[in-house]
Amino acid sequence: YKIIEEANNHLIEEPTKEHDAFIASLPLEPIIERPFTFDQPRRLYKGVWISEAILRGILVLHQRLKSRPTDIYLASFPKSGTTWLKAMIFATSTRTNYLLDQHPLHTHNPHQCVTFMELEFAIGRGKVIEAIPSPRMMNTHLPYSLLPDSIRESNCRIVYVWRDPKDILVSTWHFVQKIMGGADKISTFDQFYEKFYQGLNSFGPVWDHVLGYWKESKRRPEKILFLKYEHILQEPIKCAKELAQFIGCPYSEAEENQGVVEQIVELCSIKTLKDLDVNKDVNLATPTANNVHISHAYYFRKGEAGDWKSCMTQEMAERLDTMINEKFKGSGLHF
Ligand code: A3P
Repeated sequence: YKIIEEANNHLIEEPTKEHDAFIASLPLEPIIERPFTFDQPRRLYKGVWISEAILRGILVLHQRLKSRPTDIYLASFPKSGTTWLKAMIFATSTRTNYLLDQHPLHTHNPHQCVTFMELEFAIGRGKVIEAIPSPRMMNTHLPYSLLPDSIRESNCRIVYVWRDPKDILVSTWHFVQKIMGGADKISTFDQFYEKFYQGLNSFGPVWDHVLGYWKESKRRPEKILFLKYEHILQEPIKCAKELAQFIGCPYSEAEENQGVVEQIVELCSIKTLKDLDVNKDVNLATPTANNVHISHAYYFRKGEAGDWKSCMTQEMAERLDTMINEKFKGSGLHF
């Protein structure tokens, strides 16, 4: 497997402006006092809030992406554990290509190993995606309803990860602060909370995102593996085996006896990844659609369940829980 960043640079095209007039005609998010995030402005496209820059990529992707039966897509709402699952999927599927102590994850951030598909199309790298040899691994933040038919209707597989929405909110708050260089540049936490409560995050509302994949995973469990961040924290070995089975490279008995599952879990743990030079150097950054600097280091913070308590009052937590439980009602999904 070639690290995407280093291959095929000659295939990069000028990002298309073809859809700009259509994007400009879509409802714009309400701006409340100070700017809230680094990727404004967002537009409402088919019930989903998406930044203009990324939406440009999505519209091109809808025209061009041809999924392959061997493709593995990692889908998630931002700040739900994407980086972790990228590392897990990449390490699991390439484990026999390398000695684990020389695995590319020691020298590459997980976002360099598994590419963010709508971003690639947004920045003119659609041909790079098309040139990746099979089996391809990509991530998307698109809700199920906005996946191209090519993904929904083919036999490719989707791994979905979600997390307690309160922790998504708090994780996003810290992430945006790092990118913007401090809370004074974005909003107060209360304003940030309110916007999340209204479903105004990128790719939001979060409850629609989670429910879309949940319902489809019930209908087609062979197509969608529905994972929860907190469950992976509790039972990493069990989840790692389930993931390997699902993506078509189950652990052999010999590997299990040799402790390979434990080694993969250890390699992908936040403790290991956060400490690597490639993930500590704030000057190393992933590409974005709007020239903001997202340092590799920003993707790793605490990696715990329940850190919402450090920012949210009990009252705020209950209000959000009540609303989301109401949305989940009758779906069989609980958090
Ligand atoms: P916190 O901010 O709560 O610590 P995403 O990758 O979707 O952007 O999500 C980021 C969240 O996942 C952050 O949560 C980050 O610390 C956590 N994370 C990153 N790598 C992880 C890993 N290897 N294991 C567990 N959590 C991880």
